[in-house]
Amino acid sequence: MSTIKKQLVPSFIAIFLSFFFASAFAVPPEAVTAKNGMVVTEQQLASEVGVQILRQGGNAVDAAVAVGYALAVVHPCCGNIGGGGFMLIHLANGKNIFLNFREKAPLAANAKMYLNKNGDLIPDKSTEGYLAVGVPGTVMGFELALKKYGTMTRQQVMAPAIALAEKGFVLRPGDIAILDKGTAHFQRQAKIAAVFLKKGKPYQVGDRLQQKDLAQTLRYIAQTGVAGFYKGKIAKAIVEDSQKNGGILTMKDFAQYKVEELTPLVCSYHGYQVLSAPPPSSGGVALCEMLNILEAYPLKKLGFHSSQGSHYIIEAMRFAFADRNNKLGDPDFVKNPVTTLISKEYAAQIRKEIYLDRSTPSSLLPRSPSHAENVNTTHYSLVDKWGNAVAVTYTINRFFGSYTIAGRTGFFLNDEMDDFAAKPGFANQFGLVQGEANSIQPGKRPLSSMTPTMVMKAKKPLIVLGSPGGPRIISSVLLTILNILDYGLDVQAAVDAPRFHQQWLPEWVDIEKEPTVFSAAATEKLEQMGYRFKKHVLWGAVEAIFIDPQTGLLYGGSDYRRPSGGAAGY
Ligand code: GLY
Repeated sequence: MSTIKKQLVPSFIAIFLSFFFASAFAVPPEAVTAKNGMVVTEQQLASEVGVQILRQGGNAVDAAVAVGYALAVVHPCCGNIGGGGFMLIHLANGKNIFLNFREKAPLAANAKMYLNKNGDLIPDKSTEGYLAVGVPGTVMGFELALKKYGTMTRQQVMAPAIALAEKGFVLRPGDIAILDKGTAHFQRQAKIAAVFLKKGKPYQVGDRLQQKDLAQTLRYIAQTGVAGFYKGKIAKAIVEDSQKNGGILTMKDFAQYKVEELTPLVCSYHGYQVLSAPPPSSGGVALCEMLNILEAYPLKKLGFHSSQGSHYIIEAMRFAFADRNNKLGDPDFVKNPVTTLISKEYAAQIRKEIYLDRSTPSSLLPRSPSHAENVNTTHYSLVDKWGNAVAVTYTINRFFGSYTIAGRTGFFLNDEMDDFAAKPGFANQFGLVQGEANSIQPGKRPLSSMTPTMVMKAKKPLIVLGSPGGPRIISSVLLTILNILDYGLDVQAAVDAPRFHQQWLPEWVDIEKEPTVFSAAATEKLEQMGYRFKKHVLWGAVEAIFIDPQTGLLYGGSDYRRPSGGAAGY
């Protein structure tokens, strides 16, 4: 594996950034540079699988499918075959495609399934066990991508994942940190403990994680494809286990599941074209709404993390989240006012409501309430030597989803049902309060925040990016784009820069607890404007690629917040 590292940060920016990163690293980290192909994921082994496929002559779609299956093995918290997601594809011939393989509510789901007889939410019912599970879409999504836009066979792209599951891989500190979050849950189920614990205790750095059942399942999928997963042994194992354990999944749910090919959502920012996720993701709509609002403010002149510039960014987040939480849902079920929300005229109206010198109390926004989503999705970005680019964000929702593995299938099933507004107007696990547009209905897809995105210059990708983080996905993607386009940071610095987030409700602004997000002077000024800050553990993991429009060189920025991740290129 040849990855070329190059210091991209001019020395004055390095000095400037070292102020912000003082407590995290002495010198800003470097982006990985390559000429022919770049893969950036949250687990280095998966990035290497992507480069291996590219070197074998596969295109970015082949590599994206190979990486997706590899992450299901080496990043089992989040990479998956038991969940769903979105794939944004730019083909070198100019075509842009968006694949929607988001999970669906089972046909027997209903709006009251997580409420007790008093109409109150029953804790954990939408996050743990079979009632939390939506019908998975990943395998069908990958199959469509590969058949229509890839060049290799399913067996070829799945081979590396099968080998990693069969032979195992050595766990590094970043892997252990994530596995540790599941320990208490793993200990409750012997079948899960047998794989994800070592004699009942957490794995240590240097141990090898082998997943023989998963290897068997992947081999079966490689042979039988969609039919095997949705009509054969896998669906049968899930339905049988679900029925034994209080779930409502049926074979009909699997037989009826469909992936959709959509047109990406398109907007513009300072002359760049932005391609992102349409509903059932809220990500693209909210991102475009925020960019439209911010386009008229002189962010660059106001300065990186300045009080006035940050005031505008926070207000843009607040207004966009108020709309995101109230007006969006699965377009197969509800009408989404997308054209209005992403119009420049609507952004101009919102700017009239934003004060020059104080924050807007969220209660003043004439919108109704929302709900919260989970933060433990995963994103990866790829570019190949022909100029094809792919951005995939897929998820089982929480780390390890619903903590459910059917029979000997070896993979975690999602808890995506929690992304619905189980009780419209009340907060979910992310504190998001959502409205009726995202209420539960049979066969409906829960609203997502996943935001696989490409910023285009002259119709070619300039930045390919996305992130995990529930609603924080949207603000993480926004800030990374602003960091590159407005503040001139290189891709690695843009990804690593400290983050802030406002989601309409709750009222406060979350700031990452380290390194310092705002200077003492900016914090004081913002507090005088009415802002209240809450320190929060670091969030998101933006995995981004910057393509130099002059030289065509590829720069991969992998987020230090998921330390097992990495960029790999050749
Ligand atoms: N489950 C996280 C999301 O879809 O946004």
